[in-house]
Amino acid sequence: MSLLDQIDKNRLPKHLAVIMDGNGRWAKEKGKLRVFGHQNGVLAVRDTVEGAVQLGIKYLTLYAFSTENWNRPKLEVMALMELLVSTISKETKTLMENGVRLNAIGNLSSLPERCFRQLQEAIEKTSGNTNCTLTLALSYSSRWEITEAAKTIAIKVRDGELNADDITEELFSTHLNTGDMPDPELMIRTSGEHRISNYMLWQIAYSELYFTSKLWPDFRREDLFEAVIDFQKRERRFGMISEQLN
Ligand code: FPP
Repeated sequence: MSLLDQIDKNRLPKHLAVIMDGNGRWAKEKGKLRVFGHQNGVLAVRDTVEGAVQLGIKYLTLYAFSTENWNRPKLEVMALMELLVSTISKETKTLMENGVRLNAIGNLSSLPERCFRQLQEAIEKTSGNTNCTLTLALSYSSRWEITEAAKTIAIKVRDGELNADDITEELFSTHLNTGDMPDPELMIRTSGEHRISNYMLWQIAYSELYFTSKLWPDFRREDLFEAVIDFQKRERRFGMISEQLN
């Protein structure tokens, strides 16, 4: 039976989050510069997006650049930003063909002007697509996002728009960058690292975590299918016991 045939289309994760890791090591293994790994990482992004659309996954969120990544050597940061600009511009057509809506989360105002503009353009152009929402986490860190949400809520309470007693988990969630998305049910991290690295800390409270030793540039839709098969074998209990689920 093919990998695709093993997947129950009625029990797909609605939201899949991915930590794309291992570009640098992939390039090093080949005696190349780190940026070569990022360039090849784009092929993995394309195949993963197409695989998600093929399956019918509604939300795919990729950790493309963390707040901490700004501390990398200046040349690598510049190369990554250029790669983002060129990829978004080149791939908009494919996103349209696949019915993918582009979205972004993170401190977008800290992106270089050209990158921000290209992103906004593609977001607008694809805004009517409904097959899948592809969110790029850019200049993103979860602690930053949670702090921003707390600040916004505090200001609303100060200004009398909100009562402190009305602050619930649901209300807090709507103040996060992901406010209009369901929480990810599955999170994949490549490259054999078992860390969350400041990614969606609030949203992954009940996510299934899947780690693969594949380096990101080698990741393809078949690897995504394997992760979904693994996800479908798990029992998600949300703090309850097995018998309560049936
Ligand atoms: C992590 O590998 C990867 C990144 C920090 C960047 C991810 C970017 C891409 C895949 C390319 C462009 C993406 C889009 C969405 C167009 P690493 O550099 O930390 O690898 P290492 O851990 O082996 O050093």
